[in-house]
Amino acid sequence: MKIAIIGLGMRISGVWRHLHATAGGRMTLVGFADPAPAVGLGELAKAGLAPGQGFTDHRTMLAALKPDAVLIGSPNHVHLEHIRDALAAGCRVFTEKPVVISPEDTWAAAELIRDAGPDRVQVGLVLRSSPFFRAVSAHIGRIGRLVSMEANEHLPPAHGGFLMRDWRRKRAWSGSHILEKCCHDIDLYQALCGRVSKAASFGGRSIFTPENARLAGDGRYREWWTGWQGTDEVFASDGDILDHQVAILETERGVRISFHANNHAADRQRRWLICGVEGLIEGDFANPVLRVRQVYQEPEGIDLGTGTAHHYGADEAMGRDLATCWLDGVPFPVPAKAALEAGLACMAIDQAQRTGTIVDASVWMRTLDGILP
Ligand SMILES: NC(=O)c1ccc[n+]([C@@H]2O[C@H](COP(=O)([O-])OP(=O)(O)OC[C@H]3O[C@@H](n4cnc5c(N)ncnc54)[C@H](O)[C@@H]3O)[C@@H](O)[C@H]2O)c1
Repeated sequence: MKIAIIGLGMRISGVWRHLHATAGGRMTLVGFADPAPAVGLGELAKAGLAPGQGFTDHRTMLAALKPDAVLIGSPNHVHLEHIRDALAAGCRVFTEKPVVISPEDTWAAAELIRDAGPDRVQVGLVLRSSPFFRAVSAHIGRIGRLVSMEANEHLPPAHGGFLMRDWRRKRAWSGSHILEKCCHDIDLYQALCGRVSKAASFGGRSIFTPENARLAGDGRYREWWTGWQGTDEVFASDGDILDHQVAILETERGVRISFHANNHAADRQRRWLICGVEGLIEGDFANPVLRVRQVYQEPEGIDLGTGTAHHYGADEAMGRDLATCWLDGVPFPVPAKAALEAGLACMAIDQAQRTGTIVDASVWMRTLDGILP
């Protein structure tokens, strides 16, 4: 298979590395399109992988190289254009999440996916491939009908500082923090508990503000790279994303969820507590033991064997999943429609936070069903 990349940044260079590790000689990276590919070129060089022929414009690249499949790793606001042009060129598409950043673009993406065939588009919601999620999915049937869930995603300060410097700081490019980062989490909750039907949310920027600039110093908050449209400002960033947000959600199946995002926590956490009528499941992606307890029974520890590998062992697993999908026709763990649903749920949370109202997300979900049943 001839593979090409659009948006050769940090993420997609890693996706290709893991895909290549499984596919070996059955896939070749023939080239890439990126106006400023500095980070990704460096990462491929470190891994000893050849980038193929470089282009600044993706349409010129598609016409010249005629790839069989394209990996899209550009910033979120240009994904739709890249997906459209890659499908029009007859390519299979892997796109990074979130697929798009607005409801209107979601309808356009749904039409493209419907017309191409949903199995032609894979989305990098990598945590679907994680040992943690696979273990929860395997044991969830033991706790009976799901009732309620609390969950969080807490990022360490260096990661939060990166978000204020990177292109992710601007909603025009990323969508929002919840959409850009937590769409992974919301996708998994929806996979287990049903689609979000109602959302309420509060949030703000209380950490990365000028009065907290005393926290900076000695290269703090700058450990991570600076990429496309990056800036050096952390506490006086021109970004408009929030640095903490809470949401309460109700799903179509009547499960109630509370979610807490914080981008400057002393401890990194991605913690879940799911309660069913007959028991609970508790764990953290970064913790190798999942706890399952049925009512009136002793707790049981499930060893995930993941340690603290990057993305909790999910990156390697997704490389294998994508290789077997494209080479052997095995279904990919992320249905393309579910990726759009995750985006819509995040957009509903953001709308609830912006307007101070409870948002009825089911209206958007039904519109999506009308396009992509
Ligand atoms: N699945 C995951 O866990 C995960 C993790 C990180 C990032 N991502 C996603 O990957 C994507 C890229 O993130 P990143 O961290 O690699 O960013 P990055 O800044 O490292 O890379 C983005 C690249 O896109 C290029 N680019 C900008 N405009 C372009 C255009 N019009 N055409 C082609 N290329 C263009 C930039 O020059 C840059 O090289 C985002 O959608 C992000 O949400 C996913």
